[in-house]
Amino acid sequence: HRNLISIGALQTHEILFLLDEAEQWVELNRHASKDSDALNGLTIINAFFENSTRTLLSFEIAGKRLGADVVNMHAAQSSVKKGETLIDTAVTLNAMRADAIVIRHGSSGAVGLIAGKVDCPVLNAGDGQHEHPTQALLDALALRYTLRERGDASSDGMMNGLTVTICGDILHSRVARSNILNLQALGAKVRLCSPPALMPSGVEAMGVEVFYRFDDALDGADVVMMLRLQNERMDGQFIPSPREYRHLYGLTRERLALARPDAIVMHPGPMNRGVEIDSDVADMEGRSIITQQVEMGVAIRMACLDVLTRRARKLPGWAEGEWA
Ligand code: CP
Repeated sequence: HRNLISIGALQTHEILFLLDEAEQWVELNRHASKDSDALNGLTIINAFFENSTRTLLSFEIAGKRLGADVVNMHAAQSSVKKGETLIDTAVTLNAMRADAIVIRHGSSGAVGLIAGKVDCPVLNAGDGQHEHPTQALLDALALRYTLRERGDASSDGMMNGLTVTICGDILHSRVARSNILNLQALGAKVRLCSPPALMPSGVEAMGVEVFYRFDDALDGADVVMMLRLQNERMDGQFIPSPREYRHLYGLTRERLALARPDAIVMHPGPMNRGVEIDSDVADMEGRSIITQQVEMGVAIRMACLDVLTRRARKLPGWAEGEWA
């Protein structure tokens, strides 16, 4: 079987394949009964060792819309609290014969570790500061739909020539890492902006442009993706006050005017309104696609669950060896 642990392990044609597959589920969710029987009889376990609203619910909804039985394990109410190790937890879930396991964990690499211990596909719902691959895929799908509505989409699904500025706590952000890899694979140029203390050292090696002044990073940007400060991952480090942070790195209406006139505003959520993004920008009609991102999350997760379980269902369409 194959897993979805990182965007870094995907080739561009595989990314495009997943985005194309997701389109049928966008249409189903928007226009039809919303239900499919593609995964009838399968059991999906969502094992979340960190909090989540969007990812957990959209994986649950995705599985249910495909006809699977979906069960959620919240670490806070599980035997992890009694000292059970990650590996023992994984072996326990595996013994229940899940057909796919979706995992969010606070440690980078934990999801990959579990994938090596179980017999079914594992999907990474965010591991520490490493990757959040389905977030990057849903972001690309939301961008694709927006560009298409504006008549700017390329027929091959690529995003060549698009400049995307990602601003916020880059250091702690698995969303940033997955998006850098995904957007670059699709041909976009990525700029990063953050306070110096929140920029990973050596990140230029990923082929991104690094900025410390937000105004400079916005100049000419087609897309502005804002990230929150991950205070929960900053023990002991200097954390700017919300007021100070907004002054230097918050996306205000005035700042947004420095980007391209029609620049698209994105945020993976959860948002801290009035800190990294002002409410009037977050809710700006025709510019902010934050709610579309959430909508695309369900479709992307339906596509990933469907594609990854095809081998177990003895279905063609996903050649062996294409997933790392
Ligand atoms: N974007 C995202 O991962 O949100 P949740 O933490 O609510 O799942």
